[in-house]
Amino acid sequence: MADTLTIQPKISKPALLEVKNLSCGYQNQPVFTNVNLSFPPGNMCGLVGPSGGGKSTLMKTILGLIPPWSGEVLFQGKQLKKGQSPPKVGYVPQVETVDWNFPVTAYEVVLMGRYRQRKLFSRPSKRDRRLVKEILERLNIAHVAHQSIGELSGGQQQRVFLARALVGEPDLVILDEPTSSSDLRMQHELLHLLGELNQQGLTILLSTHDLNSVASHLPWVICFNRGVVCQGEPINVFNPSNLEKTFGAEMIVVHQGDRILIASGQTSRLHQTLNQVPTSIWGSDSHL
Ligand SMILES: Nc1ncnc2c1ncn2[C@@H]1O[C@H](COP(=O)(O)OP(=O)(O)OP(=O)(O)O)[C@@H](O)[C@H]1O
Ligand SMILES: [Mg+2]
Repeated sequence: MADTLTIQPKISKPALLEVKNLSCGYQNQPVFTNVNLSFPPGNMCGLVGPSGGGKSTLMKTILGLIPPWSGEVLFQGKQLKKGQSPPKVGYVPQVETVDWNFPVTAYEVVLMGRYRQRKLFSRPSKRDRRLVKEILERLNIAHVAHQSIGELSGGQQQRVFLARALVGEPDLVILDEPTSSSDLRMQHELLHLLGELNQQGLTILLSTHDLNSVASHLPWVICFNRGVVCQGEPINVFNPSNLEKTFGAEMIVVHQGDRILIASGQTSRLHQTLNQVPTSIWGSDSHL
């Protein structure tokens, strides 16, 4: 897809992460071609787009988990070799892709996040254990630390993986739908925590289907559908035209002061249709 409508972030510092002409796919089927992106340090960016649009594939390619077909990923100006994961980058995978039957406790999963800091086969240091304890407490999952990962709720599992990503003291975290299994209060808390960490200097890239959370919490958004459709501040990017180009569906955008609310146009059509349904379909004495 053509890289039109793109406003590049205002970069006053050299980019922390850059993607140049990146193309990737599976079994000879391209998912995206010639993607160019630049993440300045300190950015907090939402990646949004339709299911199957290639968000996870883009993230995995950046992380060196899938080899790109062509193009480059640069971290702090240095080109990464094919399959090389960038240093000091934490990753929270999409929950649907994790094997939860793996016999390991939440504590052990989080401790794995310290492996880059440890010598091969060495025992975890006092500092490793202290950092794990602190992050488990900060994410409110210390009480499930010694439970098997498969026994936890979806929201707890996501926080365990967030803890694993953060305990490695990364410069950048890449989170693939980190709040999809959390209730509204927990989603809000997680986004606030990420906002706090971002204020302390952490650069964040997260994918989500929750456009309203992006609009109210994130300063930057990339609309992605097999390529970059557009990017910028949510208030400028989220309009019906850009959203239709990204999702291929009608969306309604309501402005309320400096806030915006996004709803599916399909829902309002459904309401109209339901309102037109003759009452006899439901039965005259329906209690539904
Ligand atoms: N391991 C794989 N093998 C073959 N095709 C794949 C594989 N993983 C993803 N795909 C395909 O690549 C395309 C992009 O998928 P991807 O998971 O990157 O999208 P996504 O934007 O993350 O979607 P979602 O919002 O549902 O998570 C889809 O057509 C998908 O079917
Ligand atoms: Mg995905």
